[in-house]
Amino acid sequence: MFTRSLRLPSPGFIRSRGGALGVGRGKVWTRRYSNALYGEQQEADQPSSPLDEAIKIPAAKLENENLHLDTPRKPSFHQQVEVELDGKTATFDSIFLRDSCKCPVCVNPSSTQKTFQTADIPASIEGSCQVTSELDEMDLALINWKNDISGYPEGHQTALPLDFLRESLRLENNHQTRQHIIPQRAFWESKMMNRDIAFLDYDSYMKSEKTLYQALKLIYTHGLVFIKNVPDTTAGDNAQSVTSVVERIGSLRETFYGRTWDVKSVPNAKNVAYTNVYLGLHMDLCYMDNTPHLQFLHSMRARAPGGESMFSDSFYAAEKMRQEAPELFEALRTFDVTYHYFNDGMAYRQIRPTVELVDMGDPTSPIKLINWSPPFQGPFTHDIGTKDGGKALKVYHAAAQMFDQLTNDTANMYEYRMNEGDCVIFDNRRVLHARRAFEAAKGERWLKGAYMDRDVYASKLAVLGEMYGEEGKSQ
Ligand SMILES: [Fe+2]
Ligand SMILES: [Zn+2]
Repeated sequence: MFTRSLRLPSPGFIRSRGGALGVGRGKVWTRRYSNALYGEQQEADQPSSPLDEAIKIPAAKLENENLHLDTPRKPSFHQQVEVELDGKTATFDSIFLRDSCKCPVCVNPSSTQKTFQTADIPASIEGSCQVTSELDEMDLALINWKNDISGYPEGHQTALPLDFLRESLRLENNHQTRQHIIPQRAFWESKMMNRDIAFLDYDSYMKSEKTLYQALKLIYTHGLVFIKNVPDTTAGDNAQSVTSVVERIGSLRETFYGRTWDVKSVPNAKNVAYTNVYLGLHMDLCYMDNTPHLQFLHSMRARAPGGESMFSDSFYAAEKMRQEAPELFEALRTFDVTYHYFNDGMAYRQIRPTVELVDMGDPTSPIKLINWSPPFQGPFTHDIGTKDGGKALKVYHAAAQMFDQLTNDTANMYEYRMNEGDCVIFDNRRVLHARRAFEAAKGERWLKGAYMDRDVYASKLAVLGEMYGEEGKSQ
C-alpha cells in the first residue's frame, strides 16, 4: 500500500519528538535509539538495511544540546554541499541530501514510508552543512535548508551520519555491492560440493534461526542445500511438508502447476519431468518473465531403482568460459534464446540471453543469473543465421556446446539419490538439475515440488544476516 500524506509538523513538533533522523553507527546503538523513540515493538520484526540503520538519531538532542560543531557556524548555502569526510571534501547535491532525510516528519516512523516525494523538492533548494561528533559517538552532518519543500518549517534540519554518506559514495561507485548481504559465491565442481554439501535436520531447520540462516547462506554461496528427515504426511494433505519447508522462509510462489506439484511417472505426461526417462540438465520455467528463484523438491517415495538427482553449477561453467573462451562467454551474454510453453491453453514465451550480469553494460560484472532450459527452447528469432554467413549463430552454437559440455562433465556435477524424507532446495537461476531414468514398473517414485520468488528469499537472508551475519556489513 502506498500512502502519500505530507504530514506537516505542528509547532514544537520537531523540538518535542526530535527533528532529525539519521543512520546509527551500529545495531546496538540503533536498537537503543529506536526503542527509546518508537518503542520496542517496531524493532522486533523490522531489522533494517545497513543504510537504513544508519538513519535514526535522537533529534531532540540536536535542538537542546550545545553541540560542538567541527565546521564554523552558519556556513553559506549552496546547491552543491561540501562535507568534510575523513580529511577530504566530498560534494553532495542538495537534492540527494534533502531526499535522504529520515526525520520523523519526512518518514513516518510507524509505516516507514516517505511523506514527501523527490519531485516535491524545489530545484532551487540549497543546503548548508555543519559536522558534529558529539551525538552518541556518531559523526553527523547537520544540514539546514534554504528553499525547503513547501510547508516545512524554517528550522527543519536534516541529520545524516557520516557513515551513511561514506556508504552512499561507496555504493555509487560499486554496483556490485548493491545488496544487503554479500557472502562470497563459491563456484563449485563436484569435488568442492562433495566437501561442502550440507544435510540439515528438519527439526533444527524449523526451530533454529541459526540453522535457517545456515541454509539460506548455503543457497547463496553454493545454490544448493538439503534438508533431511522432513516428515512424510501420507495422511491428509501430503503437500504440507514441502510447504512447511518453503514457508519457514516466506511466501510460496504459485504457478499454473499449482501451489505444489508432483514429479512422478504418470500416463500421457504433459511435461517431460513426468516421465521415467533421463531428464537432462535444465532450469524450470525459463519461459516465464519472473522465473522462480528457488525450487524445493521433497522426496515422498524413492522405491524405484534409479532416478538419481544431479546438480551442476552453471556459474562455474560460465565463469570458466569467461576466463578461457571470452568470445564464447560474450555470445552467452548477448545471443537471444527463445523459451516457450504452448500447451493446455497456455502460451508462455520469453526471449533472453543465457547469461545475465548484475550490470549488463559491464562485461566484467558478476553473473546475476543464467537461463538454460533446452527442453523448453523454441526457435531462434533475433538471429537465425541469415546475416554475415550466420556468424553470430555459429559462435552461439559453439558457446552452447562448450557450456553443455562443462555443465555435464561428471567432474563438475553433484549426484545424489534422494532418500524419502530428503528435501532439496536449490537456486533455480543458477544450479541446473537433472534426473537419471528410473524403473517406474519396480516401485514408486514421487517428489513434491514448490517454488519461491527471489525477493522473498533475499528478504529473509537479509533479516537473518543482520542478526547473525559476521559478513553482513563488511563488504
Ligand atoms: Fe525441473
Ligand atoms: Zn526531514
